[in-house]
Amino acid sequence: MQEQTKIDYGPLASLIGTWTGDKGLDVAPEPDGSEENPYFETITFTAAGDVTNAESQILSVVHYRQIVQRKSDQQIFHDQTGYWLWDAKESIIMQSIVIPRAVCVLAGANYREQKNTEGQLIIKVSASIDNQSWGILQSPFMQQKARTNSFKHQVEVGNGRLFYAETTMLDIYGKVFEHTDTNTLTLC
Ligand code: HEM
Repeated sequence: MQEQTKIDYGPLASLIGTWTGDKGLDVAPEPDGSEENPYFETITFTAAGDVTNAESQILSVVHYRQIVQRKSDQQIFHDQTGYWLWDAKESIIMQSIVIPRAVCVLAGANYREQKNTEGQLIIKVSASIDNQSWGILQSPFMQQKARTNSFKHQVEVGNGRLFYAETTMLDIYGKVFEHTDTNTLTLC
């Protein structure tokens, strides 16, 4: 892993830094329906240099840690970590996700520069259990009782603001549930 100043982080460059936001809304499953959890959070994206795979693929790497706290009691109720990865040669963007429920996701997509009406970069990745490239790994318990079937994530970033919306499709309590999280953060 090389730690250099000249690394091309591509679209990931705009993520680097510490972001905070208190407009979060989580919609999560409950046996008898759903619950809504307003939240605040800190996401820290750290430039982590680059790696070379099989002496041919170079990935620029940004590590992140996302700490989410319920507004109602300040308790941390979601703690997520992983990497964003940028393959400049192939224009591929990836997000590896680890959450402490024994679920791991490798989401990815081909990247084409796209901006919203405010000039912010739009970054999208997705994964699903039947996708050989961008997939989901989960424990036997989770596969049986609270299976993640797919994940999609859109980030819009620029001008010191970051908005994200993610949808995790779950199979839980005998039904399909759309677990969603969204927030707007500012760069500290
Ligand atoms: C800001 C992001 C997120 C927050 C705040 C959040 C929060 C929650 C909450 C409150 C529950 C209900 C827990 C309970 O029943 O007591 C839940 C369930 C779950 N979440 Fe998330 N989540 C987030 C993102 C994710 C992501 C990215 C994944 C996976 C890709 C994920 C996978 C799951 C699964 C599998 C469950 C079912 C477990 C259960 O309810 O028993 N979540 N989440």
